Amino acid sequence: MLPAGRPKAYTTGVWLASVLLLSHALCQLAESKNPCPGSAALAAAASASLDVVQQAIAAQLTPDTSLKVTDLPLLRPRQPWPYRNISTALDAPYPTTNSSNGVTYSRLRHAPIQNVTAGLMQWWFRQNLERVVYYPWDGGNYTRYQMWHPRDHCHQKAINRTTWLLQEFIVASKNFTRKDFQGFNASSEAQINLNMSVRSLNATGLTLSYVIYGYEMTKLTHTWRNTAKGLDVTSELWVGNPSLQPQLNQVANCAFSRGQDPLAVARKLQQHTVEEFGNLEKVLPYLYSVRNVG
Ligand SMILES: *[C@@H]1O[C@H](CO)[C@@H](O)[C@H](O)[C@H]1NC(C)=O
Ligand SMILES: *[C@@H]1O[C@H](CO)[C@@H](O)[C@H](O)[C@H]1NC(C)=O
Ligand SMILES: *[C@@H]1O[C@H](CO)[C@@H](O)[C@H](O)[C@H]1NC(C)=O
Ligand SMILES: *[C@@H]1O[C@H](CO)[C@@H](O)[C@H](O)[C@H]1NC(C)=O
Ligand SMILES: *[C@@H]1O[C@H](CO)[C@@H](O)[C@H](O)[C@H]1NC(C)=O
Ligand SMILES: *[C@@H]1O[C@H](CO)[C@@H](O)[C@H](O)[C@H]1NC(C)=O
Ligand SMILES: *[C@@H]1O[C@H](CO)[C@@H](O)[C@H](O)[C@H]1NC(C)=O
Ligand SMILES: *[C@@H]1O[C@H](CO)[C@@H](O)[C@H](O)[C@H]1NC(C)=O
Ligand SMILES: *[C@@H]1O[C@H](CO)[C@@H](O)[C@H](O)[C@H]1NC(C)=O
Repeated sequence: MLPAGRPKAYTTGVWLASVLLLSHALCQLAESKNPCPGSAALAAAASASLDVVQQAIAAQLTPDTSLKVTDLPLLRPRQPWPYRNISTALDAPYPTTNSSNGVTYSRLRHAPIQNVTAGLMQWWFRQNLERVVYYPWDGGNYTRYQMWHPRDHCHQKAINRTTWLLQEFIVASKNFTRKDFQGFNASSEAQINLNMSVRSLNATGLTLSYVIYGYEMTKLTHTWRNTAKGLDVTSELWVGNPSLQPQLNQVANCAFSRGQDPLAVARKLQQHTVEEFGNLEKVLPYLYSVRNVG
């Protein structure tokens, strides 16, 4: 599929500059321990080796989409119980990047989620998670999405039937609210701020993807099944697309991690995901029970 606005043809000068940038970026890669010197620099460097569609994808991947202060909630729920730790997971191997195609993969199998069923999960994801309801654990009123993960979640807005805007921190260093304006340094926090397409939601799970010009650049799946001990959930993540150039997938990984180590950020996302699925055990039966209240 071709992008709507085709990038300008490369002149020899731009091409040469790209080659120089590429060698510069490769030197930086060799010198620095950080595998992501910055997705914009990488995109510029990689563009010499990419075709016109992949250059256009790289350009879409690089804009700064950091959460803004106005994306933060005014208040956050005070959760009285501790979050589940990744050590509770039944399987959580450290994420890996395929060295031949540059795609990062992460898999996590949660300990069973008690009192939650596949039917309840479908109800949950079909509701308006931005609806404000009462939080009995601290007596305040917050969005359902915030109750799901009080420290990290900001917004999950349905843009339309098939697109959700996801805004959340990934193991934030603080319970950031709008009042933290001065302390809020977006670039130092791992975060997600993406319009994700809902590919499927059914009795067996949920698939979300971030698509550019028809290519899935990031894919997140949660696969679930009912068991006697509770809901058995496996969460998977892919960053990059095996049908695209490894150089472009490296840009996708740097954009995902905002210049940090993509594997370390994918690992943090495992911890975040363990926390939010663990919390469903507590909040989902309650939220379902008050679904018609107010
Ligand atoms: C966030 O607030 C909770 C109380 O809701 C507190 O227990 C926790 O320590 C705070 N976390 C951070 C990172 O400040
Ligand atoms: C999870 O538990 C381990 C070992 O007890 C601990 O080192 C780690 O800090 C915990 N992680 C979080 C996010 O609390
Ligand atoms: C890594 O990528 C190559 C090329 O796309 C593929 O053939 C191989 O199966 C991948 N390896 C794994 C472990 O997924
Ligand atoms: C599941 O529900 C039962 C019955 O209401 C309750 O006793 C139990 O504590 C709940 N489990 C969790 C993990 O909240
Ligand atoms: C929460 O909402 C309820 C119902 O609208 C209201 O009575 C209550 O005062 C609110 N609580 C707080 C702390 O704002
Ligand atoms: C939903 O919104 C997204 C983002 O604005 C857009 O790309 C997509 O085409 C829309 N889909 C439908 C079915 O309207
Ligand atoms: C924000 O954090 C980034 C990355 O840790 C750092 O380079 C930058 O100097 C910080 N900015 C401010 C205003 O503290
Ligand atoms: C998501 O889509 C909406 C509607 O098209 C747009 O206003 C918003 O800027 C997009 N957000 C991000 C983070 O791309
Ligand atoms: C649910 O969606 C997945 C992913 O699209 C699909 O593979 C599966 O067949 C679907 N299952 C049912 C029961 O519809």
